[in-house]
Amino acid sequence: MKKIFVCLMMAMAVVGLNSCQNKKACEQECQRECSQEGEHKCEHCKQHEQMNKTDIVLEAIQTRVSVRQFTGEKLSDEQIEKLLRAAMAAPSAMNKQPWQFVVITNEELLAKIGEQMPNSRCQNKPGCAIVPCGDMSKTLEGAGRDFWVDDLSAATENLLLAAHAMGLGACWTGVHPNMERVSDVQKLLGLDEQIVPLCIIPVGVPAEQPEVKQKFNEENVRYIK
Ligand SMILES: Cc1cc2nc3c(=O)[nH]c(=O)nc-3n(C[C@H](O)[C@H](O)[C@H](O)COP(=O)(O)O)c2cc1C
Repeated sequence: MKKIFVCLMMAMAVVGLNSCQNKKACEQECQRECSQEGEHKCEHCKQHEQMNKTDIVLEAIQTRVSVRQFTGEKLSDEQIEKLLRAAMAAPSAMNKQPWQFVVITNEELLAKIGEQMPNSRCQNKPGCAIVPCGDMSKTLEGAGRDFWVDDLSAATENLLLAAHAMGLGACWTGVHPNMERVSDVQKLLGLDEQIVPLCIIPVGVPAEQPEVKQKFNEENVRYIK
């Protein structure tokens, strides 16, 4: 009898653990705490579970914010690869993929970049910084050359969204077309002249949770029906 009781308790604990995991995943993804404990699924968790793929993507887009303060925690190689895969999934003009991504995990270099370029937020303890660069040896020729900026911008936004979806924080910090900054970053990172940094993206575990900005504005739309 005692054995049956112990087995029953263990089974209940396993069931409890399962629902807890669901809650944890939900909390992590939404970056908010669920106030309820135990085996239940709160309304938010339930809603989250029911969300279809489209809703999840749209929610990630709508809730992304620039994060500029980090805990200093390092990112794993797997996390960094996920971010790079998302960046490289971006569209590019004639699928040229004219890019190189420089990944900086070296703390001294991060601090140096932050000191010389405070706008980069690299002084605020990111786990790493990723620098999306245009590779001028891979761009289209002639009038299409400058599409590299669009290509790299698409990759940058993909990366920001992936970071957000992974519960990380990130911020697009501008380099190109400020040619003084371009030259500074090339020197700091020892880049060849044909590798042109578009921006610096500090990425890490967020140490702040900025408010999501409401930006939809009907006035910025013109319909042609
Ligand atoms: C091209 C570009 C350059 C930016 N440069 C910087 C920068 O140098 N430093 C910084 O802290 N944020 C920078 N940002 C982030 C913007 O300030 C931020 O996206 C904007 O305030 C909207 O806030 P949100 O990203 O939280 O929606 C930049 C964003 C873009 C798109």
